[in-house]
Amino acid sequence: MVGTFNPRAIRLGYVALGVKDLSRSRDYYCEVLGLAHVLDQDPDVYLSVGAEHHNIVLRQSDEKALVHLGYELSDGADLDEFERDLRAFGLSPERKSDSQPGIDQLVEVLAPGGNLFHFYKEMCVGPGYRRSGVAPARLGHIAVITPEAKKLLAFYQRFLGFHYTDDIGGIATFMTCNSDHHVVNIVDLPESRVHHIAFELSDNSDHARACDTLTSVGMPTLWGPARHYAGHNLAAYHYDPDRVMIELYTQMDVYLPALGRFEARPWHRQNPLRPQSWKKEQMTAWETDFNFDLVTA
Ligand SMILES: [Fe+2]
Repeated sequence: MVGTFNPRAIRLGYVALGVKDLSRSRDYYCEVLGLAHVLDQDPDVYLSVGAEHHNIVLRQSDEKALVHLGYELSDGADLDEFERDLRAFGLSPERKSDSQPGIDQLVEVLAPGGNLFHFYKEMCVGPGYRRSGVAPARLGHIAVITPEAKKLLAFYQRFLGFHYTDDIGGIATFMTCNSDHHVVNIVDLPESRVHHIAFELSDNSDHARACDTLTSVGMPTLWGPARHYAGHNLAAYHYDPDRVMIELYTQMDVYLPALGRFEARPWHRQNPLRPQSWKKEQMTAWETDFNFDLVTA
């Protein structure tokens, strides 16, 4: 589908998580990860990386859960038309006003795999970046595990217009709606949960600072920092307090949809580099043998 890249959404705006201990999770996301606390609006706590009103939403829950995720629609999107198209696709959207602070109007829809989506056009600006903790530059992508992967993939590709950029062993499929190698990663396994949430760091040197910050509060880095094959991002993973994996990354591949390939980088082993299926054991381009099983974690 080279040259036909016209996605309806342009980026992942926010992820709302059900957490078992709200105070513990707020401490982690604010004091360790370095997000800014924006406001509490019962039952939710709104946190921001800096530029947008919110990027992470926390809600007290008996079990950890993915509550919803929000995507910003591309310029010129019409919410009425978007809602009509969702109905024509066989889904049941609902228009909401002021359901989220910082967002005037949104369309909420339950998609295959039980993923509840918010789609919006504009969000208020955020409180600014903090300088403490890990302090990432932005929210980048989410990886979700679902037994309804084929249907969820169809929603992303056929309805939202996301582009396939890679897969690992046919189990994890990467898709994008912008120049990032992936904005979502759908993992086809018989359970429903978040696999990981990823934040981009400003610079490679931030990896060392981030790992030191995590170590100082007793949170181990489970995998990496190391360079992936799929996406070639320099990535490191740790668990949040509910054992939701958090990825911190830099240098992700830049996708050029008009050319159907990625911007060349010195560390690529193929030139040109195009979307492809990687083997399950091709997790790190450095061939480092980590004991932590990133696939099943
Ligand atoms: Fe990731």
